[in-house]
Amino acid sequence: MSATPFDIDAIRRQFPALDQTVNGKPLVYLDNAATTQKPECVIDVVRTFYRHDNANIHRGVHTLSARATDQYEAARERVRLSLNASATEEIVFVRGTTEAINLVASSFGQTLKAGDEILISALEHHANIVPWHLLRTRIGVVLKVIPVTIEGELDLGALPALITDRTRLIAVNHVSNALGTINPVAQIAAIAKQHGVPILVDGAQGLPHGPVDVQAIDCDFYTLSGHKVFAPSGVGVLYARRPWLDELPPYQGGGDMIETVSFEAVRYAPPPGKFEAGTPNIEGAIGLNVALQWHAALDWPALKAHEAALLERATESLQGINGVRIIGTAKHKVPVLSFIIEGSHPHDIGTLLDAQGIAVRTGQHCAMPVLQFLGAQQGTVRASFAFYNTLDEVDALVRAVHRARQMLS
Ligand code: ALA
Repeated sequence: MSATPFDIDAIRRQFPALDQTVNGKPLVYLDNAATTQKPECVIDVVRTFYRHDNANIHRGVHTLSARATDQYEAARERVRLSLNASATEEIVFVRGTTEAINLVASSFGQTLKAGDEILISALEHHANIVPWHLLRTRIGVVLKVIPVTIEGELDLGALPALITDRTRLIAVNHVSNALGTINPVAQIAAIAKQHGVPILVDGAQGLPHGPVDVQAIDCDFYTLSGHKVFAPSGVGVLYARRPWLDELPPYQGGGDMIETVSFEAVRYAPPPGKFEAGTPNIEGAIGLNVALQWHAALDWPALKAHEAALLERATESLQGINGVRIIGTAKHKVPVLSFIIEGSHPHDIGTLLDAQGIAVRTGQHCAMPVLQFLGAQQGTVRASFAFYNTLDEVDALVRAVHRARQMLS
């Protein structure tokens, strides 16, 4: 695929869902941290799969099964390339980041004992908190937390003292879904390494604003959700360094993850098959392949500059509105604006924005601890931009917030 010049109108034309009116107004879709819209090429490849190639993978000798298997495995190679993993065997297809972290908590968890410590951060999504809670209930691991500053940055000065000889894993997100903070994951990985502790990076919000290089980050585990990178829902990835995949026990049992089964014993397939029990989301993986190819072919320097312009304009304009407080003002951010308006409930603002065609998320954003810490007890309004959003859409948001404020005052 040749490089696509960054022409925002041409890009937007590839996303059919962006071209509609909502409540009589042009849709302004600013809920990209929840899920992204899909380009035509992704929609087409899923449709083509069902119209021509639909079959189960790794099982049939027939032609359709071979075609489906080839496309599914091609997707694995594409993910490897996008993450710069060293081998396709390190790419495990899962349902999304939530399942990827649950897989690690379950399989890696079996190597842990009561009193072992898992170190997460105060900025985490519930997907990187609750699986560790479950492990605490199950085996008595201790959950420790890297604190966050009032700007919404991790307090890395506190990190070394939190690592003890019982620390078994550090698990942090690459980018905060609630605030947009980009965390210095390579730096955290380097500190983890000095202490001989493995690190998991929740990358759900990372690759959409990419690029990602798991070898440069030097992490042990990295997770992805397809639907946040312009691919279908229900498919995601756990990247894990090969030695982990050899060493860890399987997560789920079933077909396709075994070499031999008897009533007395099971011999598991080598990774990644060992971690992919049952029929996977085949069409999702195929869609992910096309989404990642399409995404990688964009003009990244231009895209980054555009995202920075969206963030700057939205930050300055929203800050200028009386009563608006932006929650999360980290130095390094993706274009995610979480804010509250004095005296108004975020859900009311969200409803009034929707009436003006503007889609935002309101509430706790599955990241309750950090919003509580930053004083947003009722949650926030979150406008999360993708590169297909325009500066005009920032202005539409700002006008709509002004109007909502007037209506509520
Ligand atoms: N994690 C998704 C979000 O931030 C659902 O909205």
